Amino acid sequence: MENFPHTRLADTHCHLDFPDFDRDREEVVQRCQTEGIDFVINVGSSLKGCRDSVELAGKYAFIYASVGIHPHEADNFNQEIKTEVKRLAGADKVVAIGETGLDYYRNLSRPENQKALFISMISLAKELDLPLIIHNRQAQDDTLKLLKDSMPVKAVVHCFSGDEQFLKDCLDLGFFISFTCNLTYKKAQNLKNLAKITPLEKLFLETDAPFLPPEGWRGKRNEPIYVKKLAEELALLKGVSFEQIAEVTTQNARHFFNLT
Ligand code: NI
Repeated sequence: MENFPHTRLADTHCHLDFPDFDRDREEVVQRCQTEGIDFVINVGSSLKGCRDSVELAGKYAFIYASVGIHPHEADNFNQEIKTEVKRLAGADKVVAIGETGLDYYRNLSRPENQKALFISMISLAKELDLPLIIHNRQAQDDTLKLLKDSMPVKAVVHCFSGDEQFLKDCLDLGFFISFTCNLTYKKAQNLKNLAKITPLEKLFLETDAPFLPPEGWRGKRNEPIYVKKLAEELALLKGVSFEQIAEVTTQNARHFFNLT
């Protein structure tokens, strides 16, 4: 991948704490720096993930952390875990609560437990005045309902999926939208249409690495530098320059996560 020193891309959602990176985490982090990644937000999805995210943020200046519990973990959620997430949220460089939300596609935890967890994480975000990183998979009606009941909420809907009405409802509530490299897939026509109509000033970029590598890398491990592929795709879809996509989305994310 060629160098792009004049652009400032941000990966607002990845999981460098996952075992997929155990072998070469240091090299992956160094590549972010040599390839001009401005900052990375490492997102906790389990209690261990939250601890590891805070640790990564402590180790590298350009990495920030988010702490939260993923809906897949909802069946095991309890007050003790909430207290620990709250404690971790007070650590240096923790900039958001998440990822959290609802996943009715894989349904690895019972929907009632997912909702209870989501409500708990929304209230924690409000209490601590931190933005929320939301995971929604085939649960758009309940996701919207729970968020509407808790407004005002500052949120980004990560790895956006859903229909056009859901997108409009999220934008009406003032939420930000972030797309992942699955936008580059040839069959992602619906997603490409949604990205086209999402105002640039409401967009962030993310990889969700190690998941969802871009077209051409499918089946391999994703990593933050491939956010470049996503920026290229968005530039094509929106008919603007790569540099403009990079500038605006990185600035959006800096403001949203309140980075100095
Ligand atoms: Ni994720």
